[in-house]
Amino acid sequence: MGVVIKIKPHMGGEKMKKALIALLSVPLVSYAGDLVKCKKPPKELDNLYPPKAKEPVLMETMHHMSIAFSGIFVNAKLGKWDKAENWAETLKRNYSKIPEMVPSWKRKVRLDTMEKLVQAVKEKDISQLKRYASVVGKTCSSCHAKYMLPVKIKYHYPSFDSVKLDDPVSGKRLSVEKYMKAINTDLKLTVIFSHDGEFKPAFKAAKRFATRYNGLTQMCSSCHTNKIVEEVYFGKETEENLKKLVKFIMAKDKEGIHESIEKIETGCYKCHNVHEVPQMLKKKFRD
Ligand code: HEC
Ligand code: HEC
Ligand code: HEC
Repeated sequence: MGVVIKIKPHMGGEKMKKALIALLSVPLVSYAGDLVKCKKPPKELDNLYPPKAKEPVLMETMHHMSIAFSGIFVNAKLGKWDKAENWAETLKRNYSKIPEMVPSWKRKVRLDTMEKLVQAVKEKDISQLKRYASVVGKTCSSCHAKYMLPVKIKYHYPSFDSVKLDDPVSGKRLSVEKYMKAINTDLKLTVIFSHDGEFKPAFKAAKRFATRYNGLTQMCSSCHTNKIVEEVYFGKETEENLKKLVKFIMAKDKEGIHESIEKIETGCYKCHNVHEVPQMLKKKFRD
């Protein structure tokens, strides 16, 4: 079963760090990603994320670095160089962890430049600090451009692959993909038969469609712990529209059929925007 990973921002319980990150933004680091540049995350990352790891270790290292980066500059600007040095050491310690955790990323970090950055802080040399911080910052952003989106999709977004549904029409246990194909066929047949004036088979298809649509709610609890989410795609309005669709078919009212289908379809689109798009991306970054 898929599990929604609830990630707590890891601040080590230190309120000051929290306050700092809220106050600051580091213009040196860009988190932008370009889909064309995206690369499959290296396999070794499996060890740094649940379920293999207890915590999303790599992400925590990132948070530490981001805070430390800001910590250096906020203190350097205030002339508190001893504190800036502490943050520089924190940054170096965490930055050095990257190639230890992910050996294939060894050439993506510049440990030598990081050393010079720490040295610049020790020497209280703001212009050298800026120079080396910019070089290090570029290693951050170039890795992010390739790996941030794929890693988030692969390790944070839960998968629909292991979710199964009992199909109330066939009695079979289906994957989400197969269930969707079935519901899509019901919908298309409803449209085609209604259009052709074949209202008996249209009625049957619409009945199957409504049954399957309502049957979708069985999968929500695989990932969601509250019932409120169901209101969004399965509220009273949807229920009404499903009933109306069947009624309009019985009344042979083509316009009414068309209208109710359009309204029901907004539920399909809403859900697809939230759930199908990430699932499609997940398939791209699958091993
Ligand atoms: C070799 C690759 C690599 C390098 C170098 C790197 N990062 Fe990251 N960073 C990642 C990946 C992958 C993620 C996505 C992690 C996740 O969401 O679990 C990430 C995410 C982040 C995030 C966002 C975390 C979140 O909660 O969304 C921040 C902030 C961050 N990195 C800061 C930095 C800073 C600052 C540096 C440089 C000092 C840096 N990173 C260097 C790979 C890298
Ligand atoms: C495989 C896991 C999975 C399944 C199954 C699933 N969802 Fe979600 N859903 C998510 C994730 C992940 C999000 C993003 C927010 C989060 O992480 O909680 C989300 C977000 C939502 C949102 C947006 C509101 C919010 O909490 O951000 C709604 C509404 C929603 N889901 C409804 C449903 C309904 C209704 C079902 C059952 C028909 C369902 N979901 C089944 C994973 C799932
Ligand atoms: C509760 C969320 C949800 C609702 C509501 C929903 N879908 Fe889907 N749909 C999904 C997810 C998730 C996938 C991706 C499944 C996968 O690829 O494993 C999907 C995939 C599909 C696919 C592609 C299947 C394939 O061949 O890969 C079709 C077609 C589809 N849905 C049709 C519909 C129609 C039509 C409706 C409305 C009547 C609908 N869906 C309502 C979540 C939903």
